[in-house]
Amino acid sequence: MIVGIIGGGQLARMLALAGQPLGLEFIFIDPGTGISAASAGQHWQGEYDDPTLLRRLVAAADVATYEFENVPPATIEYLAEHMAVFPSARALDCARDRLHEKSLFARLGIPTVAHRAVNSRADLTEAVAVLGLPAVLKTRRLGYDGKGQAVLRDMADLDAAWQRFHGTDLILEAFVDFGRELSIIAARSRSGDIRFYPLSENVHDRGVLAYSRGQPADARTEEACRYMASLLRELDYVGVLALELFEVGDRLLANEMAPRVHNSGHWTIEGSETSQFENHLRAIVGWPLGNTAPLGHTALFNCVGYLPDPVAVMKIPGAHWHDYRKPVRPGRKVAHITARAADAPGLEAAITALKALLPGHVLG
Ligand SMILES: Nc1ncnc2c1ncn2[C@@H]1O[C@H](COP(=O)(O)OP(=O)(O)OP(=O)(O)O)[C@@H](O)[C@H]1O
Ligand SMILES: [Mg+2]
Repeated sequence: MIVGIIGGGQLARMLALAGQPLGLEFIFIDPGTGISAASAGQHWQGEYDDPTLLRRLVAAADVATYEFENVPPATIEYLAEHMAVFPSARALDCARDRLHEKSLFARLGIPTVAHRAVNSRADLTEAVAVLGLPAVLKTRRLGYDGKGQAVLRDMADLDAAWQRFHGTDLILEAFVDFGRELSIIAARSRSGDIRFYPLSENVHDRGVLAYSRGQPADARTEEACRYMASLLRELDYVGVLALELFEVGDRLLANEMAPRVHNSGHWTIEGSETSQFENHLRAIVGWPLGNTAPLGHTALFNCVGYLPDPVAVMKIPGAHWHDYRKPVRPGRKVAHITARAADAPGLEAAITALKALLPGHVLG
């Protein structure tokens, strides 16, 4: 069977690496050269909405998916008219727009961050009056890795933020003084079966995920699974969905969702019986989902803008190296490392050894 993926970055690469043992083959549509996924399938170079490439994909592939929510909606609509494509256009529409996803959370009774739509300078002043400062002004669409957002700390920040972002649809969010950031990832099959992964506890550095840890026994698990299940069912979702959460006191607030495999779940490659990548493929192809039970204690380190010495990483017991084969540039995710151990002290030892290899800002 052939799977078409819109996008050829590291998520597409890891999907293909997970799918090859299952007998799946892959086509990536991506305008880039030397893309991360290149060695894992066929790279069809062109825009994500290139009509000729999309027509060819319909003829060549059995099912289509995408690795990022900024794929042009028209691409998914066209593919959905002609072939199986998951997640659905409706799921994509909700997840790509911060206002739509927060409205969906509210409708389903999922607590979310206080927010207001901002379409004019007057809206911004009014939203600040309602939500107070500090607050976070974000573009509703196309943001990732903390791009397209600005923290407003006092009234003097409003004009600069407005100058920077006006002209696109915006949302103002209350600034959340969270205790922890968590995410939950789950897969839903074509027949409606749902499997949850253990929660991940996430640490960001300048808006970019730096570190995640699998949390099989987390106290917030039941609550997070409840929210995830209601999203999956409401959207009649097929594939892997990720939900990012803020823990405030002893409750959760939904931040955003991603209609795809998620960076905070990369530890599932070694740390779960079936990875998020394999389960996404099983779901969209129409196969049964695999067991998501954790295999030991795991942590994940992102290599953002630098590559450590892979040999030094591999010398550390329990450390697993994942090179995305991307040119190193500041702020760019170019590799990750998963540490896995049978017990908590073993994981701590691996983390201590890894920290010595990684830049100090990763965990402070
Ligand atoms: N309202 C908020 N209050 C406090 N911190 C916030 C808020 N919104 C975002 N952040 C911080 O910024 C990070 C990135 O924001 P968000 O998840 O909204 O954007 P993103 O660009 O889609 O990020 P990513 O691609 O990493 O998921 C969050 O994980 C969190 O650490
Ligand atoms: Mg996020």
